[in-house]
Amino acid sequence: MSISIRNVWRTFGEGVTAVHALRDVDLEVPQGQFTVILGPSGSGKTTLLNLVGAIDQGTGGTLEVDGVDLGGLDDKGRIGYRRTEVGLVFQFFNLIPTLTALENVELVAELTGDDGAARARQALEGVGLVDRVDHFPSQLSGGEQQRVAIARALAKQPPILLCDEPTGELDFETGRMILALLRRLNRENGQTVLLVTHNAAIGEMADRVVRLRSGAVVEDRTIADPVEAEALTW
Ligand SMILES: Nc1ncnc2c1ncn2[C@@H]1O[C@H](COP(=O)(O)OP(=O)(O)OP(=O)(O)O)[C@@H](O)[C@H]1O
Ligand SMILES: [Mg+2]
Repeated sequence: MSISIRNVWRTFGEGVTAVHALRDVDLEVPQGQFTVILGPSGSGKTTLLNLVGAIDQGTGGTLEVDGVDLGGLDDKGRIGYRRTEVGLVFQFFNLIPTLTALENVELVAELTGDDGAARARQALEGVGLVDRVDHFPSQLSGGEQQRVAIARALAKQPPILLCDEPTGELDFETGRMILALLRRLNRENGQTVLLVTHNAAIGEMADRVVRLRSGAVVEDRTIADPVEAEALTW
């Protein structure tokens, strides 16, 4: 799915205490593009993902996904959009400690129907965790937990994948493995990926790098010849 962000503002509060988390952001993201969003802490990266994920709404401008204005959706429409079109990978995994890996995927992704468990198992297989399905998060390494979180985001094969610092908590090797996995899935399924990081080196594997500063886009660069994730160093 394509994402069209036009003159988008997100202001928190008002008057002298107003914080402009996003200032007049313009981005046209075609379907299948792998975009890395860079920027220092507080620059608006998470705020931007939250708008695209319909978790939050802008205070100005328009945000369209495949031509549908998210601002025009009612609550039901937004819930439907979040359920079917968007996969979210959070920085801190957000796994439920009392559920196994399989249950975290099946129940949290709301895979309903008789084949829910089978589809969850398939998603875990896709991230190389088929032998860990009955483990609880506390029995998994950080990289394994992040892979469960990715399986959960991908289980419904959403056309849009939003990843907020997916490697932030991981060591270098594991982080690179996760990035390679995301890139492979993006190529195989044509998902549109927005990946937030503060690590500029990760930008080299993307089709495009967008840099935010104080809520504004200060760099927007297309990369003609991205490197393979396995070749990244930082
Ligand atoms: N709900 C909120 N209420 C008030 N201010 C907010 C809210 N959410 C975010 N902000 C402010 O908006 C700005 C952007 O925040 P955001 O979380 O998008 O930054 P970020 O780029 O993701 O930072 P980090 O790299 O630390 O995660 C910050 O100044 C933050 O304090
Ligand atoms: Mg953030």
